[in-house]
Amino acid sequence: MAKFSPLNALRVAGKGIRNYIIKRPLIVSFEVTLSCNCNCRHCDLGGLIKDEKQIGPDDYARLTRLLNPPLLQISGGEPLLRKDIVDIVRAMRQASKASYLILVTNGVTLHESNYVELHEAGVNQLSVSLDFPDERHDEFRRHRGLYRHLAETIPLLARLGYGDIILNTAITRANLREVLPLAEKAREWGVSMSYSAYTPLRTRDKGYLIDSPEELAVLRRSIYKLIELRKRTTYITNPKAILLDTLRFFENGYMPDCKAGIRFFVVMPDGAFVPCSLHRNKYSSQKEMIEDFSRTNQCGGCYVAIRSYSDKGLGALLKDTPELAKGLFHRYGGNTKRSD
Ligand SMILES: C[S@@+](CC[C@H](N)C(=O)[O-])C[C@H]1O[C@@H](n2cnc3c(N)ncnc32)[C@H](O)[C@@H]1O
Repeated sequence: MAKFSPLNALRVAGKGIRNYIIKRPLIVSFEVTLSCNCNCRHCDLGGLIKDEKQIGPDDYARLTRLLNPPLLQISGGEPLLRKDIVDIVRAMRQASKASYLILVTNGVTLHESNYVELHEAGVNQLSVSLDFPDERHDEFRRHRGLYRHLAETIPLLARLGYGDIILNTAITRANLREVLPLAEKAREWGVSMSYSAYTPLRTRDKGYLIDSPEELAVLRRSIYKLIELRKRTTYITNPKAILLDTLRFFENGYMPDCKAGIRFFVVMPDGAFVPCSLHRNKYSSQKEMIEDFSRTNQCGGCYVAIRSYSDKGLGALLKDTPELAKGLFHRYGGNTKRSD
């Protein structure tokens, strides 16, 4: 896979503006399996699903051509559990040369050879989930040895110089005080950092929400420190507006104007369309999903990454584009050295 060139960035931006105007998705998340080798405390998935109905690489190519979003995400469940994951990536990349392709993983089975294969097949960004900057990660994910594996593997992969790894943390009450140490961990490992907000919609557990005045004050301080940090460095990838909205989500307990089904949606392992990972009513076309779900959707119960990056107005999206482009340039512009 060649570096993500400025021309590709322009093509992705152009596709984004076009899709915004014609009401096609900006991001589609392909959940290639709902099986997972973790059993995270904040998530409704976990464990292996027997005889899951799964579409294959050719179907992913067809859906990529059909939906043609600027941002393609491969997630799950745990996508690296699919034996044909590299073929899926390659098929999607061949179907859309000018899309930015993200693969989200817990990293349990990540190692140098599959990382290089995925990169060469067309992954632009490998998002590796990390909830704590130490062994508490194992307890939260209920997977012994995972933190140590990541601590050994990620710095090695970072040294290959592709500049495409981002650690990815859902902020919860449990890791509230680790927001800044997690950024420090990303810096130490030589990778980037991205945050999103916990939603209780997966497990119905409000215990991980941040809602007391004391905790919100801690979160506010961390968010403002991140905003300061991102002025001086390049490894915090969230635009300032998204960091502030993450804080706002916890302060208000909701975020209105969700565009699930319109600006983003999820493709299930069997190829059915669902509005998001939290509303899994199945549709066979986007039109049907918009009619039945999006037009009357009042849900404001999450501010997860797929939503935060796609539900702003065109003006705000264009305003954030230089910040996103700056991040892309630092990671993919041929100079993978970051200022830290
Ligand atoms: C569902 S996982 C699937 C991909 C992969 N198995 C992983 O762990 O990265 C994708 C992301 O969703 C996040 N997640 C899980 N439950 C969540 C919740 N209730 N609220 C916000 N994010 C959540 C995880 O932390 C992870 O970063």
